[in-house]
Amino acid sequence: MKLRVITAGESHGRCLTAVVEGMPSGVPLDDGGINHGLARRQLGYGRGGRMKIEKDRVEITSGVRHGLTLGSPIALLIQNRDWENWMDIMSADVIDRSGWQRDAKQTIVSRPRPGHADLAGGLKYNHRDMRNILERSSARETAARVAAGAVARALLEEFGINVMSWVVGIGPVRWNGGAISIADSGGDFDELFKKAEASPVRCPDKAATAKIKKAIDVARGSGDSLGGIFETVVTGVPPGIGSHVQWDRKLNARLAHALMSIQAIKGCEVGLGFEAGRRPGSKVHDEIFYKKVRPRVSEAGGSSKAAAFWPQLPRFYRKTNNAGGIEGGMSNGEPIILRAVMKPIPTLYKPLVSVDVDTKRPFKASVERSDVCAVPAASVVAEAAVALAIADAFLEKFGGDSVIEIERNYRGYLKQVREF
Ligand SMILES: Cc1cc2nc3c(=O)[nH]c(=O)nc-3n(C[C@H](O)[C@H](O)[C@H](O)COP(=O)(O)O)c2cc1C
Repeated sequence: MKLRVITAGESHGRCLTAVVEGMPSGVPLDDGGINHGLARRQLGYGRGGRMKIEKDRVEITSGVRHGLTLGSPIALLIQNRDWENWMDIMSADVIDRSGWQRDAKQTIVSRPRPGHADLAGGLKYNHRDMRNILERSSARETAARVAAGAVARALLEEFGINVMSWVVGIGPVRWNGGAISIADSGGDFDELFKKAEASPVRCPDKAATAKIKKAIDVARGSGDSLGGIFETVVTGVPPGIGSHVQWDRKLNARLAHALMSIQAIKGCEVGLGFEAGRRPGSKVHDEIFYKKVRPRVSEAGGSSKAAAFWPQLPRFYRKTNNAGGIEGGMSNGEPIILRAVMKPIPTLYKPLVSVDVDTKRPFKASVERSDVCAVPAASVVAEAAVALAIADAFLEKFGGDSVIEIERNYRGYLKQVREF
């Protein structure tokens, strides 16, 4: 692993922290790009009250000087603005808890919520106050991941690699009346991304956006919640990152790990994914063609940096991309296409039955505040998680201590590929 990321912080603690180690020197980085990512994570129709409290801002506390990375570990800090209301409850100091109640306000949480880490974590860490679990298992952690992902994106952008996402469907509604992939529609990725950014549910299809909003309203009205499917696409990736030679170097496995590490993600697909199991081989595998001028340069994502690298890429190409840009655990030069499914939010206003760990009596879980649907936000988190995994594999292949050194390695490799 070239790029190591670790996050720390509790949902109602003082702050979240991310440390990114392994970034080369010379990558342009400032808080503007990171804050933009943090703001995108907070958007989306169906979010709960917390998003109104937390306006996330990052502080870069090490590893960057005068707008450029130093090559040293990058530490990122995001304050929890709600902290002042939780200073006693979340204090690191020894304090007198004798007056505290295992009450409906859940000062001490003895009532594990179905669908959350509460009970399994309580049993595992021997915490009868399950706040000690839920504070860390909360998806608030994803803010730190998005901040770290912005660092990876800054590196990838230097090499014309772009990561984008959009929502394919939420609850019973699907994009384009049921198509499994938006990337596969033949639409221009940049256009699709622009449309997704403009949609309150990050779906590039206007009709589906309206239907999804309605479905979220219905769920909210009945105290329920919704999950859904989103797609993450990476453009500008050269062939040959990841490797077939060892199980833990396979790019598809690393990307699946990245996606499945996001709270509430329950499955993921590469390219055709599960649909591949329904089709015969002749309708699955992407035939290989060769042309003197590569015909799909536009797929580089339109950035000038991508254009600077992409004309050098090999003239082998595919007319279909059912493999989702990965064969044998390596990128094959086509865009990488991933999808993931998010389960419905487990905290329901129509509460589910659980058992109080103290009294062993059943109860119905009370709700403070919660999202009804966070699929659009999860898709933004997925961009970050995928960017980190791609940057890690990219550094593994072209690694160096400075951007200049990596660029030299990268251009040398592209020359080798071009002359293949
Ligand atoms: C962006 C995002 C926002 C989330 N918001 C909530 C929420 O408001 N309420 C809730 O109960 N779960 C929420 N979740 C889901 C829980 O964090 C998750 O289901 C829980 O931690 C259990 O983990 P697991 O689903 O991976 O098993 C959210 C997940 C993500 C990715």
